Amino acid sequence: MTPTFPPGFLLGTSTAAYQIEGAVREAGRGPSIWDTFSHTPGKVYRGDTGDIACDHYHRPSADLDMIAELGCQTYRFSIAWPRVIPAGQGPVNHPGLDFYKRLLDGLHERGIIPMATLYHWDLPQPLQDAGGWAARDTTARFADYAAAVVAELGDLVPFWVTVNEPWVSAFAGYLQGRHAPGLTDLAAALRASHHLLLGHGYACQALRAGPGSGQVGIALNLTDVEPGTGDPLDKAAAERIDGFENRWFLDPVRYGRYPEDMLTWYGGKADVLFADESDLGLIAQPLDFLGVNYYEYQRIVHDQDEPVHAARELPPAGPATHGGVAIEPAALTRVLCRVHENYGPVPLYVTENGASFNDYIDPEGRVNDQERIDYLSAHLAAAAESIRRGVDLRGYYIWSLLDNFEWAHGYSSRFGLIYVDYRTQTRIPKASAAWFRGITSQEKRSSE
Ligand code: GCO
Repeated sequence: MTPTFPPGFLLGTSTAAYQIEGAVREAGRGPSIWDTFSHTPGKVYRGDTGDIACDHYHRPSADLDMIAELGCQTYRFSIAWPRVIPAGQGPVNHPGLDFYKRLLDGLHERGIIPMATLYHWDLPQPLQDAGGWAARDTTARFADYAAAVVAELGDLVPFWVTVNEPWVSAFAGYLQGRHAPGLTDLAAALRASHHLLLGHGYACQALRAGPGSGQVGIALNLTDVEPGTGDPLDKAAAERIDGFENRWFLDPVRYGRYPEDMLTWYGGKADVLFADESDLGLIAQPLDFLGVNYYEYQRIVHDQDEPVHAARELPPAGPATHGGVAIEPAALTRVLCRVHENYGPVPLYVTENGASFNDYIDPEGRVNDQERIDYLSAHLAAAAESIRRGVDLRGYYIWSLLDNFEWAHGYSSRFGLIYVDYRTQTRIPKASAAWFRGITSQEKRSSE
């Protein structure tokens, strides 16, 4: 059964610059930390890089037609900082901005509402050489970049996302070492998380000072965390993982404070005296909306041998995606209700939700991804359920429009509604694309 959404509810798909664009050396683009990381042997599966990716940079109109054919009412993409300010600071590269101007014009011509993300992990390499997000100066550079973008594109963008998933940038990048810049340093990771949030605060101000009247938000990856057993030690471990993954970002963004329990926990391990009161006020900017990227449901147990949090995730008890992530649609409802109740009122968008499966082209030339259809239908229903429970949810973006460069997993992990044959760049709509088109056309009819 297809869920029904309130009038004005927006359905769309989401992508990110480095994952789809390719053309990494064109039109004045400078290197980013993901160019460096993906070209470092051993960092990305099979040595894959985003050098070509989906070659989207060279085929924006064909890809825009595809988005329109899916019936997307909205499309979320990211702007590559190294295309706009190649050295991370200094002169603006207008040919870089022009690419996004053309993309935005193309969306408007097709009646698709754009949502533009300023930072989806592609920090200009020269800023990393000066310390990256662990260095406070990067926040000022990010504010300059936001100001440069809004000056040129402000009139074309109705929805801005400042930073995508600061948790991943800070902790996958500076603590776990599995994303660029590939560090394993808790103190640096904590500073990076703070500076990403402070950068968000500055970017909100810059966007609002610029032309246009775009709504401003941030996209946080939020996880539904439960203790694996009733043991008090496991409950405490789950509370820490909730603090690490959710509250460390929600509390400062909404209330201008870090969670006390986590400050105490980290305080014994690293310097947490990086924030002053005025930073926290800046981070807690009023939000026009909060973006929720939802992928994960985790059951956590205590494990003294695990570094940093003394906690470990149990393997999924039920069905899982190709990436081994538990499939638990009710967890999406729980996450949205929790944000609404504890951090609202604020309009919410599911800015990303989706799954990778083992997609392949069958002998008839089709990609029959029934698992993805099942996954997405169940999660759309879970989103609709949150609205029924009173959550002010305004839209839902599928991750992703097309298969793309899945960070450390390279091209081995497919999330798209559209299959990409990377040797020929042929796009093949999967069964899920036809399914989604059915959903969007029904939504369109019911809002007419
Ligand atoms: C994210 C990322 C995407 C990933 C997706 C699947 O924001 O987490 O936007 O870049 O591809 O999450 O892992």
